[in-house]
Amino acid sequence: MIDRISVKSILKGECKEERVTVYGWIRTARSGKNVAFASITDGSVSSPLQIVFDRDKFDDISGLATGACIKVTGRIVESPGAEQSREISAENLEIIGPVGDDYPLQKKKHSIEFLRSMPHLRPRTNTFSAVFRMSHHLSLAIHRFFDENGFFFIHAPLITTSDAEGAGEAFQVTSMPLDSITLKNGNVDYSKDYFKRQAFLTVSAQLEAEPLALAMGKVYTFGPTFRADPSDTRFHTAEFWMIEPEMAFFDLDDDISLIEDFIKFAARYLHDKCAEDISFFTRFYEKELKERYSMLMESDFARITYTDAVELLKKNKGGFEVAPEWGSDISTEYERFLADEYFGCPVFVTDYPAAMKPFYMRMNDDGRTVACTDLLFPQVGEIVGGSQREERLDVLNIRAKECGIDLNDYSWYFDLRKWGSAPHAGFGLGFERLLMYLTGMENIRDVIPFPRSKGKMM
Ligand code: 4AD
Ligand code: MG
Repeated sequence: MIDRISVKSILKGECKEERVTVYGWIRTARSGKNVAFASITDGSVSSPLQIVFDRDKFDDISGLATGACIKVTGRIVESPGAEQSREISAENLEIIGPVGDDYPLQKKKHSIEFLRSMPHLRPRTNTFSAVFRMSHHLSLAIHRFFDENGFFFIHAPLITTSDAEGAGEAFQVTSMPLDSITLKNGNVDYSKDYFKRQAFLTVSAQLEAEPLALAMGKVYTFGPTFRADPSDTRFHTAEFWMIEPEMAFFDLDDDISLIEDFIKFAARYLHDKCAEDISFFTRFYEKELKERYSMLMESDFARITYTDAVELLKKNKGGFEVAPEWGSDISTEYERFLADEYFGCPVFVTDYPAAMKPFYMRMNDDGRTVACTDLLFPQVGEIVGGSQREERLDVLNIRAKECGIDLNDYSWYFDLRKWGSAPHAGFGLGFERLLMYLTGMENIRDVIPFPRSKGKMM
């Protein structure tokens, strides 16, 4: 057994012993005539722990180099320095993992782009350990919220037969080299493949969450989703996590209040649990981060229909690169205008034209829009996509045909409307986009330990 006390328990005064053993990686080290100092971190907390070495006792301190892993036994003492209240007066030092001059993170500050090129080392920096600590707390907040609100956590399959969003962005899954099962006429004989049919990595757990909601009432999934998204922007990755609740006996208004309640809860949870990390991000990354938390926790989100939003966009004197028109997508420049400029807060845009959205969204009485919402955030854009689902078999049949859905692939989905159908709704929230907003990180690749995006994978 390794006897060890974390840096956090020493700095927070949780550890009552006087003499302790700590392990950590050296952030900085310097040496004077009488004493040497090393600041170490072990990721448990934002601040480093200072270790003081009396040069009379420690003759050879050549191993105290940035990046090295050390084990120190010593006494916890009050620190005379202003930066920390407690430090360790070392009695014994062991260099567990030495480093050479070639350790890449020598400088105190490295650019975020440079760090992105070494995902295996960047968690040792202040920035990335703070991001991943907050990622942990946000994950827990999700489970806490849904559990407290009567939801059941469901594990959805990652391998599916459907492209739920119909966007043609699904990665294919196969156990065979595709050329070995390609027939002379160029078609692929999937009966020879592992599942005896074509299979994909899931783009959304929604379709599989619906049967569970229509049996258990309120369920949610929280897991990885995969998209061969052609957009290579700072908001897109090929592999991201989505939170997907699905609720029986919910309409679009219920769905929208749940989204808002959930985000408010998550913001409050991080605000209370991660004060030090939030201060760090406020200081170094996003000056207005604390205001973001206050806004999320205290103000109501805005709401506007797609049709009204287009009218509003048309009136914008500044104009846009592409003139807004009913039926066109809410592009990034429109998102910016609505969320950043006009409302200055998260805004639910609802009731989009049916033609722009997948087959499963519930048709409104006007026959041309569907009961759905996208939640747009300032700075980050779309965080949530949700809708009331079409529960009427006849309407769903028409919509599926219009969208070119092969009914054979989805027969079970239609069964749900045939036997005991019920109104229901749900949404999908992009975990990493929310985390970007809550940390102030500007690129989605910087909130994922090992990001995967178009043309890039380490
Ligand atoms: O709007 P989307 O495509 O909605 C669905 O997939 C629904 N089936 C969800 C549901 O109703 N259960 O995706 C939902 C969210 C987006 O709003 C965005 O936050 C995130 O998933 N997202 C991505 N995040 C990072 N990289 C990508 N390529 C993303 N694509 C979507
Ligand atoms: Mg969407």
